[in-house]
Amino acid sequence: MSTIGSRVITPDFIDHPWVPLQSAHLQNNFVKIHWPDGAHLQAYSLWLAENSEGIGVEPLVRESLIDPADLPAADALVDASVDQQGALLLTWKNNPQTRVHPGWLRYVAEGKLRARNALPRQEKWIADIKEPPTVEGRDILENQHGQELWLDNLVRYGFCRLENTPTTVSFLGELSATVGAIRATNFGNTFSVKTSPNPDSTANTGLRLGQHTDLPTREAPPGYQLLHCLTNNAAGGDSRLTDGLAVIGALADEQPDAFELLCNEKWLFMNRAADAEHRWEGSIIELPVDGRPLTLRAFYPVRSAPLMAKDKIPAAYEAMRTFSRYAHDARFQISYPFKEGDLVTFDNRRIMHGRNAFAADGERHLHGCYIDHDEIYSRLRVLRRNKKVGGF
Ligand SMILES: [Fe+2]
Repeated sequence: MSTIGSRVITPDFIDHPWVPLQSAHLQNNFVKIHWPDGAHLQAYSLWLAENSEGIGVEPLVRESLIDPADLPAADALVDASVDQQGALLLTWKNNPQTRVHPGWLRYVAEGKLRARNALPRQEKWIADIKEPPTVEGRDILENQHGQELWLDNLVRYGFCRLENTPTTVSFLGELSATVGAIRATNFGNTFSVKTSPNPDSTANTGLRLGQHTDLPTREAPPGYQLLHCLTNNAAGGDSRLTDGLAVIGALADEQPDAFELLCNEKWLFMNRAADAEHRWEGSIIELPVDGRPLTLRAFYPVRSAPLMAKDKIPAAYEAMRTFSRYAHDARFQISYPFKEGDLVTFDNRRIMHGRNAFAADGERHLHGCYIDHDEIYSRLRVLRRNKKVGGF
């Protein structure tokens, strides 16, 4: 951080480079700001008040503390200019002058305040990729570059495999801690997927599992699922993954009537457990709208009942049959063995997962947990602070 910049508090904890302004003019309560290279920004007076130390920003927490009812009048800003160091200098009626960091203003002008900042664009994939994007996991806890690559793949492709990770039970928690909080569920902070004499889920049998997403019984199903292979000497049991983005794109083009029913007709989802009763009503496909992620509610073991007009039900069932056929189609689905030390993470709302049946006389132990999208996005933004990377 430059010495000059360190004297002007910004409403964040990002180390912005100092990018001196060329000019600033106040007109109709907006400040027109220009940089020498032609970049520009129009900033409203009250927004500047909220984001100025001395008026809105509290210097320790860097948050704006003005209750909207206490905002000054829009014309309380009486002058705007550029000071000798290139900062924005604001003069307020009945208040001291304030300075605004020109590098922070430049960050705003470049659109980097948006939620998608520093996140890669999502890219659809189909079966020709054959294998998950893979990152060396041996030293991942100490390797920030490896962590960034892992997280980038999770946002871009919706999944990533770490290879050669330590096969200790504690590793999953240690890796998760590099990202953020685990999303706990009624299966606990973490869970084990292995055969059990009294299974509480289809997952804990050796049975085949069709392509699905976990926990559509929740308002917001968990964002990402991590599965860490601690032991696997069972014959069979290959994992299968399908990109929901690719499937819904193909359905929209090739099966528009089914696609419409999958997007619009609602179902009840309800878990089956002695000590938990989660329910949610929604469509099989919730399209990404206004930056919200795609959410597939595709887990037939907990789909409970159709919530639609009687005359829609037969076609809605046929649409689900079509959806499942696409999810298992060789065009879209990849299949790969789980090796001991593999840790596969996937977007549980975008990517459908499943597995082939495996022999009951072998031992197969996966240790898993969930982490929400917010945690993955936040960590990637922090790792990319002050790097020149594009967003969506
Ligand atoms: Fe699952």
